[in-house]
This record gives sequence, structure tokens and C-alpha cells, in this order.
Amino acid sequence: MTDQKAQLLIDGKTIELNVITGTLGPKAIDVSPLFKNGYFTYDPGLNATATCESEITYIDGEAGTLLYRGYDIAELAEHSNYLEVCYLLLNGELPSSTEYTTFCNALMHHTMVHEQMRHFFNGFRRDAHPMAVMVGVVGALSAFYNDNVDFHLAENRMMVALRLIAKMPTIAAMCYKYSIGQPFIPPNNDLSFSENFLHMMFATPCEKYTPHPAIVKALDRIFILHADHEQNASTATVRSAGSTGANPFACIAAGIGALWGPQHGGANEAALNMLHEIGDTSKIGQYIARAKDPNNSFRLMGFGHRVYKNYDPRAKSMRETCHEVLEAVGAHDTPVFKLAMELERLALNDSYFIEKKLYPNVDFYSGITLSAIGIPTNMFTVIFAMARTVGWISQWSEMISHAYRLSRPRQIYTGKTAREYLGIGKR
Ligand code: CMC
Repeated sequence: MTDQKAQLLIDGKTIELNVITGTLGPKAIDVSPLFKNGYFTYDPGLNATATCESEITYIDGEAGTLLYRGYDIAELAEHSNYLEVCYLLLNGELPSSTEYTTFCNALMHHTMVHEQMRHFFNGFRRDAHPMAVMVGVVGALSAFYNDNVDFHLAENRMMVALRLIAKMPTIAAMCYKYSIGQPFIPPNNDLSFSENFLHMMFATPCEKYTPHPAIVKALDRIFILHADHEQNASTATVRSAGSTGANPFACIAAGIGALWGPQHGGANEAALNMLHEIGDTSKIGQYIARAKDPNNSFRLMGFGHRVYKNYDPRAKSMRETCHEVLEAVGAHDTPVFKLAMELERLALNDSYFIEKKLYPNVDFYSGITLSAIGIPTNMFTVIFAMARTVGWISQWSEMISHAYRLSRPRQIYTGKTAREYLGIGKR
């Protein structure tokens, strides 16, 4: 907060509003007093509205900056690992080596899910989208951990965080195994977070799965790059649900639902589906023309971002990882990856995309990488959800630990004015 004031002149009245300043980023005008003066603000999509104060993540879309607790994403992607980033997001500081070991041990002891949870899977069709299963199963965790817990206590919030971060990979892999009719593979706590996930995905009771180190590193990097992204649609959903005092597992299930959409977490799946639809490099021009046509709603999936109008800083690290994986698995010459690289080249050199500052986003490269790892397309958003869980729960925990208000946006009513009810015979 500063002493600075903004004045709004309306209907001959001057309304004085406080100006709020964060440590970085634009100033904000506190419009909360407007309502008692008879006005709402109108901001569909909330593009110009800060709905909370947060110390977790900072984004400068114009500069292409993304910081987790002050640390640059590129540095974290290069030098850190996902569990260290989880500790950082949850606690505000990087851990000492003892803190790190204690955190990892605590987390890895929550990787199993309650045996009763297996029965939930039998209720789903085998061809159900894994995100549909994920929403249901994660929501069901609230039925297992519904004890009368006081979430104003930090240790209770941390327990929820540990349970969620640890169980999400197990549930995600169970979704996959169920869809292909293979038995569930229990977690192996001797493995790293990423190795364990790959083990639960690709091992079978009769065959071990030993991933290439480049794949383990790539997956860990995907988790880091997707761990948090301030007040995006799914995080805002988690906060909104959390503001009602709802069970945190149910709040995360709400976030998973919001993430599913193709304009948010579903973009990496949509990007890969688009590459398959294009099918051949000779057809790229056709698709670029459709994307540029103002009368056509088609968009190049994996390009553009609501916040990053220069470059998605996560895309830089992800691009590098993408090439490492393609190299490691010998997939550089596979038609779909050749097509992806040609699409990237053409779009980056096309004046429409240059003028509108539409660059490949993180999901363009993560989709290609996950596909090269052998992860089926419909699991991409599930992996995004796993990675984002720490962000969601950190944001939820931050909100609960501060004074917060029930989220309740208003509207501009454009419907009928009050009118009299007429009995059915008189209409
Ligand atoms: N292909 C073609 N044109 C596009 C694209 C695209 N991917 N994205 C934006 N445009 C055009 C858009 O038509 C508009 O043109 P005009 O000014 O002539 O009306 C202009 O660029 C600005 O677009 P906008 O809709 O105002 O931008 P936005 O900030 O609302 O949209 C977006 C951001 C991500 C929804 C959009 O770029 C998009 O739909 N991209 C494809 C889906 C995608 O990759 N989403 C993942 C985002 S990253 C994941 C995450 O962080 O959750």
C-alpha cells in the first residue's frame, strides 16, 4: 500500500481510491469502495484485475519473466529439481540439504493411495478421458481425508500438500493403466519423483522399465516449468473454491476441471492433435492461412499466450529439452516431429505471427516432448495437473493463512426488468 490516491470522477462526484504497490509489477487501484458508491467495475476475463495479493509467483508478460519466489524459471529449470521447487513454492525459501531430505522423505511416504480407491476406477469406462477420471478420483480424496481438520494450522495445510503432491503421480498412472487394461503398478519410493512416475506408467508386473536419463530429466523439467503460474484460470478456480471453505481436495479437483480446457492446460494435447491433423509438411501453409483468416476461428494450438506477449520464458527451456529427448530416443526424423519443427520455423518467420507476437508457448514443446517419451496424447493434461498441484496447493495455503474473503464476483444485468407472472392460460 502507498499513500498515493487515484480519483475517479463520475456523475459529478469524485471518488478517492487507494493505490496498492507490490514489490514488482504494475500498481493496482483498490476499487472495493466503488460498490458502496453505487458502481461495479467491469472486466470480463479479469485481464486488468488483481484478485489477491501473493508472494509466490511473479510474471512480467512483456519482458518474458517468470519468477518462483524471486528465482528465475530458467535458473530453476537448469539447476534445481521438481521436489526442491515444490519446497520453495510451499515454504518461500530453497531448502537446506537436511530440510530437503526431510521433505522428500515425508513426501515419498504418502505416495500410496487408499486401497478402496482402486474401486473407483472400476466405475469408469475404459475409454474415458483420463482428465475426467482424474477430476473424479482427486475429488474423491476428500471423502478419504475429510476429518474435521483446522486448516488455519500450517502443519495441517502442509499435510494436505504432501498428500496431494505425492498421490497425484500414483493416481495419474492408475488412470493410464486402467485405460489400457494393465494392472496398477504400486509406487517405488527408492526412485526419484520422475523415475517413480515413469515406473508406474510403463513397468508391468512382468517387466521392469528403465528410462533413458534424458527422459527422466525432461520430465522433471516439465514438472518445474508447469509448477505454478500465478492467477491463471485453474489457480483462480482453486482459490475461488477454497474461499468458500471447501475441502482442499475438492478445490484441487475444481482446478483440474478448469485446467482441462484447450485454451489452458489442454493446449499441449490440442497441439499434438493439430500436428496429426495437419499430417504432412506440405499442408502447413494451408493451416497457417486458416489461422490468419479473421473469418476463421481456427488457431494454431501451442502458439500465443494471454500474458506473455513477447516470448514464453518456459518455452526456451522446454525447446532445449525437447531436442534433447528427440535426440535421445532417435525421433528427430519421425514425420510428426519434423512437421512440428517446420511449423515452428514457418510461424516464427511469418509476419502475422511476428506482428501479433504469437510465439510457440511451453505447451507446444512439452506436447512434442511427452509424445517422444511415449506418453499418450490424452495423458498430457494429466501430467500438467500433476505438476501444477504444488502451485494450486501453495496458492490455496497462502490464501487460507491470510485474511481472505469469499470470492463473489458481480455482473452487469442485461435481462428483463421486473415483470408480472402470468398464469399459463394467459400467456
Ligand atoms: N493462432 C492464430 N492467431 C492467434 C493465436 C493462435 N494461436 N492466438 C492469438 N491469435 C490472434 C487472435 O486471433 C487475435 O487476432 P486479432 O487481433 O486479429 O483479433 C490476436 O492474436 C490476439 O489474440 P487474443 O485472443 O486477444 O489473445 P488472448 O490473449 O486472448 O489469447 C490464447 C491467448 C492462449 C487463448 C490464444 O493465443 C490461443 O488460443 N492460443 C492457442 C491455444 C494455446 O496454445 N493455449 C495455451 C496457452 S499456454 C498454457 C497456459 O499457460 O495455460
